[in-house]
Amino acid sequence: MGFPVSLDELLGDEVRRDPYPYYARLHELGEAVALAPDAPHAVVVHGYAAAQRVLRDPVFRVLDARYLDRAGVRWRDHAVLRILQASMFNAPAEDHARVRHLFGQALTARRVAALEPAIVRITDDLLDGLAEAGADGRPVDFMAGFALPLPSAVVGELLGVPHSDRAWFPSRVRAFDAVLEIGPRSFREIRAANRAAEELAGYFTTLLAARRAEPRDDLVSALARLRAERPDQLSEAELLANLIVTYNAGFRTTANLFGSGLTLLLARPAALAALRADPSLAPAYVEEILRYEPPVHFAVRYAAEDTEVAGVAVPRGRTALVLTGAANRDPRRFPDPDVFDPSRADNRHLAFSAGPHYCVGAALGRTEGRLALPRLLDRFPALALAATPGEPRQLMLRGHDQLAVRVVDPAADRPDRTARVDLAQPA
Ligand code: HEM
Repeated sequence: MGFPVSLDELLGDEVRRDPYPYYARLHELGEAVALAPDAPHAVVVHGYAAAQRVLRDPVFRVLDARYLDRAGVRWRDHAVLRILQASMFNAPAEDHARVRHLFGQALTARRVAALEPAIVRITDDLLDGLAEAGADGRPVDFMAGFALPLPSAVVGELLGVPHSDRAWFPSRVRAFDAVLEIGPRSFREIRAANRAAEELAGYFTTLLAARRAEPRDDLVSALARLRAERPDQLSEAELLANLIVTYNAGFRTTANLFGSGLTLLLARPAALAALRADPSLAPAYVEEILRYEPPVHFAVRYAAEDTEVAGVAVPRGRTALVLTGAANRDPRRFPDPDVFDPSRADNRHLAFSAGPHYCVGAALGRTEGRLALPRLLDRFPALALAATPGEPRQLMLRGHDQLAVRVVDPAADRPDRTARVDLAQPA
């Protein structure tokens, strides 16, 4: 029997640039398809219901140390993998529940709500910077000037990373994150990821020591206190690893929500105008951006027992590639899935995953989007692309590296500044 789908196609340049036609073809084949026995995964799961089932069913596990050891991966030789294995992302189920519970106690709704004034302040400061850099219609890079520094500063506020240290992070985070992408990585990328992991571990070790000496109202201090109170509930390695991944996960995901979101809106003037006219629509827009162009397109799980998904057998120890980006376009779940429609009802997409690993920062990411998007549009009524956006290639942390925009229209009649000063004077 032939296999209707090959992963080579998914990993090829054409599908990476625009995966949606490939996803549409997958949907015609049902909810899941078997891959050839020599493929790295047993099954591709692309239907919404099947993807949700795999993400929630305890028979499917994240690629924990037990899995990597059985697969012969020498993960202990790599700092980046040691951190990922000690973090929530790859913790075995029993450790995960314990650590996730503690993080839930520290990353509360109250803490997220308390960040709102900081999010507004940081947004407005960055908008001032864009206005200055883009005065007279000069093109500015929206990613470097807004989309990346906003979530980086917000997650910095959350954790308590001092302002002056924040510019140090982006290159390390990017190098660390490279190992998360689907497909093989080069030795150079792995070496850079390991170096970044060691530097990030060094940074957070120092920050932890500083907050232990002088606690503040931030997540690092809160978690250090929880560990001091219940050392058996959170090891030092788990604490450190989870601080690193929280910083990383909170940063480029949300940046891509802004970059992809802005590109989608600028290509849809009616939707853009509707949001400008009614900023209370922002939460629905954020959800639709996340469904339509999610920053994360996949998750991988292995079967702890022989099982099946949507009729495809998954032998014990083999993996399922869960294409959440495809599930978000499943026509069985979302009518007209390829239409960007912020008014769609019941928009429970899988951009934040599902089940026990559901994004711990979802409320924060949503809050940033809801607060910042309307402020951006309100501040720059003539906001427009200055060049055709490049096509993203990643399926993990998918988004634009650069996005050239103009924040003011260079051709528009601008008021004469001298006249305005004169008018402000009493007659
Ligand atoms: C739009 C923004 C965001 C998106 C699209 C996103 C997406 C995701 C996804 C898909 C997962 C689950 C991965 C899996 O199932 O294997 C995840 C987990 C996680 N996210 Fe987010 N995320 C966002 C924002 C944030 C923020 C702001 C933070 C930090 C404050 C954060 C921290 C985490 C952490 C620590 C996990 C691991 C949770 C676990 O394994 O239990 N994320 N995120």
